[in-house]
Amino acid sequence: MKPFYTFTGRDGSFIVNHANQFNYTYFPLVGNGGIRSSITPSFHGDTKIDQNSFLLLPVSQEDLHASLLSRNLWFTVDNHAYPMLDLGQQPDVQTTVQGQFLSHKLEKSFSDFSVAITSFIPYDNPVVELHKVVYTNTSQTTQTMQFMTAIPIYGRSAESIRDHRHVTALLNQVHVLEDGIVNQPTMTFDERGHQRNHRAYGVFAYHQNATITHRHPVMEEFVGDGNTLLHPGALKHPDASNYDVGSRVDGYEAIGGLTFESLSVKPQESTTFIVALTIGDTLEKVRQYGAQYHTEEAFDNALKASNQTWQKELDQLQFTMRDTDYANWLKWVTIQPILRRLFGNSYLPHHDYGKGGRGWRDLWQDALTLLFLDPHGVEDMLYKNYAGVRIDGSNATIIGDTDGEFKSDRNHIVRVWMDHGVWPFLTTKLFIERSGNSDILFEKQRYFHDQHTHYTRKITPQQDDREILFTANNDIYEGTILEHILIQNLVPFYNVDSHNIMRLENADWNDGLDMAPDHGESVAFTAMYQKNMSDIADLLEALHNRGLRTITIAKEVVYLFDTLSTPVNYENVESKQALLHRYFDSVMTNVSGEQVDVEVTAVIQDLRKKADFITSLLRKQEWHEQDSLGLYNGYYDNDGMKLESLQEPVRMTLTGQVFTIMSRVATDDQIPKILAAADIYLYDKHRGGYALNNDFDEVKTNLGRMFGFAYGHKENGAVFSHMAVMFANALYQRGFVKHGRKAMMSLYEQVQDSTRSKMYPGLPEYFDIKGRGMYSYLTGSASWYLYTLVTEVFGIQGYFGDMVLQPKLSQEDWVDGKASITTLFNDRMITINYHNPDDLDYGEYTISSIQINGEEYPFDTHQNNPLIPRDKLSKSATIDGYLTR
Ligand code: G1P
Repeated sequence: MKPFYTFTGRDGSFIVNHANQFNYTYFPLVGNGGIRSSITPSFHGDTKIDQNSFLLLPVSQEDLHASLLSRNLWFTVDNHAYPMLDLGQQPDVQTTVQGQFLSHKLEKSFSDFSVAITSFIPYDNPVVELHKVVYTNTSQTTQTMQFMTAIPIYGRSAESIRDHRHVTALLNQVHVLEDGIVNQPTMTFDERGHQRNHRAYGVFAYHQNATITHRHPVMEEFVGDGNTLLHPGALKHPDASNYDVGSRVDGYEAIGGLTFESLSVKPQESTTFIVALTIGDTLEKVRQYGAQYHTEEAFDNALKASNQTWQKELDQLQFTMRDTDYANWLKWVTIQPILRRLFGNSYLPHHDYGKGGRGWRDLWQDALTLLFLDPHGVEDMLYKNYAGVRIDGSNATIIGDTDGEFKSDRNHIVRVWMDHGVWPFLTTKLFIERSGNSDILFEKQRYFHDQHTHYTRKITPQQDDREILFTANNDIYEGTILEHILIQNLVPFYNVDSHNIMRLENADWNDGLDMAPDHGESVAFTAMYQKNMSDIADLLEALHNRGLRTITIAKEVVYLFDTLSTPVNYENVESKQALLHRYFDSVMTNVSGEQVDVEVTAVIQDLRKKADFITSLLRKQEWHEQDSLGLYNGYYDNDGMKLESLQEPVRMTLTGQVFTIMSRVATDDQIPKILAAADIYLYDKHRGGYALNNDFDEVKTNLGRMFGFAYGHKENGAVFSHMAVMFANALYQRGFVKHGRKAMMSLYEQVQDSTRSKMYPGLPEYFDIKGRGMYSYLTGSASWYLYTLVTEVFGIQGYFGDMVLQPKLSQEDWVDGKASITTLFNDRMITINYHNPDDLDYGEYTISSIQINGEEYPFDTHQNNPLIPRDKLSKSATIDGYLTR
């Protein structure tokens, strides 16, 4: 089945005919911060700055086809009123959507006229959501046309929907201006308490010649008793709800109702209105924000500038492989990590739980791709966010909109996601590989310190409002970034439960595994911490070869390297726990401030000993096989029972396989057996590939809320893109390219199959049991998808700032014997073309020669792969790699 969208060029732009055939498609509108919006083929969606400042009422998916509280526009043509909001009452109207970076064009063709609405938020001035509304008379006769817009101005916190919705309307002060209506409530009632409000929310409309004749600021008067917002009373009796310029109405639900004078429009003639929605700190500011764009020319210029800026940003990562549709689709995937930086996990219709801010795990993973797009910004981000690590290895979980802004969990239930310590090193490692800047490891950073200690199992009186760790002498304590990393990865080693597996705590990557805090264990992330320990050891070894002899760490942290003083018996769970508790106690209120130097070689040995112990434990204890099938058990529940088994009833999770494969715990012989089992129990072609788990058919309250979800949805067995992509990544890493590609391409093909996925281009968080794409745009899977394409499929890897090429392209990936990528590498914009004239498949080819900017380059190798030193790469270079058998 073909997608319902068609790409119109090579820049990702697409067009959708019959765009209103699916109810839950929406498009994000955003600039570089500021106002964030969603928009649908019915001109629905919402507009806000943050959780407490919604201009349009917050929407969830069902509102998109059911609620009238929307961006409402009407054209009254020869005395007949046509709303632009289509709740299924316009079957004969042809609706087309065009998507571009980052603007949305909606066109509706009625029998005698058409309307085209282009919407965007200026990239560099994201204080206003703009719409250019072009009316065209497509009939043979002159028409009398009147334009009216009436956009409800909710103007308050999302919380108020079910918390004093009416009472908060009593705070409204609605100002009637020449070109618009502004609601500036007197106070805010939200979780911050009752406070004086200054924020103003405006709806403005402009036309070059026509003037506004009526202004309707009050919702109930505009609608009129006995009418609805779809066919409001104001359409017939505009005088009844009209107010003069300069008036103010207090205490009512507000609406930005503006009626223009009637215009005479000749056949084939068009006329243009601009509508602006703004949020600002004063009434005057919002008036100015709108007025800046009151002409078509100002609108067009701002749109062009925005489109160009987005395009430039996205041009930093380009792919040519498979076919043009795939390259176009990848552009929409490339914008996703940027969108998640701007939206967090909030503010789009499916993300009806988010309250702004960003999650710890997501932040670090989105950075994997942001490193290809904005490496300098990411370096700063990495450094600042390490300040969120606690000295006990846990971390602040609520991160504000700016890097390094952590919010206290004082009033909330505090949780430890036991996987959180894994991600920072992964991202930092990628940064060092590509930039060669290992100095970041030795930069000093403070620690987050609030009242929660012992992995949040104990509370201690907080000593300082700044939530920073101090020394016994009351100085701010700073340790190296390396020290932060070591703590994050060593603490879990000791934090084990009865099977000597790391405790699940309040969940791991799977947020739905949240009901086994006492005895739950995560084999999956035990494997991943093992990987980190050996990767840190490898990194330190490389640094040792470059002259590093000692590292400096807090005296207390040395304790976590048990082999340096009193070795602990790793088989013995109690001994491990005891060591950990002694460590936790020693850093509970502060640290001594004393730092010591330890030999790098001793640290490497310690880490390797721990990693080796985990590897053999997991292989011995968690591997299950039956004939040609095999799996790693991924979890223990709160009763200490193993979750997975190949015995009937078979239970298998993808997560248990992904991280054991990625960490090399799974042997080369075991992987084919895992794949055979995954193909039987997890793979479903009709919903995008590898599901998170098979159907356990049990509401396992001793493991997590996910088992309460219907099977095939979200964390309970959906095809969850993030895990499916990490599966692909793990398989590529291990050289199981055929299956890795299958996991990646199944996701893409599912999106392209619009009869099932019903979505715009991009990668959704997951596909539900019927294969519908859910939670568009904001998902960590996008970052992992691109990361996998760059580092594995195209094999552009870094080694201390030098480039190593190890492509794993398959036969189906080539376009006329060529595949290309353009990416930023170590501050250089590099295009790499691989040439495969003999159409060889992965495994059949090696790189036999390389040209840099057209000149033959006799390369050295790193682990048998071509290495190109950074100084051979100019600011923008083209590398041609020729593949032969
Ligand atoms: C979301 C969360 C992510 C979490 C995952 C599984 O995935 O953002 O942190 O690990 O659910 O519970 P995403 O939307 O990033 O694909």
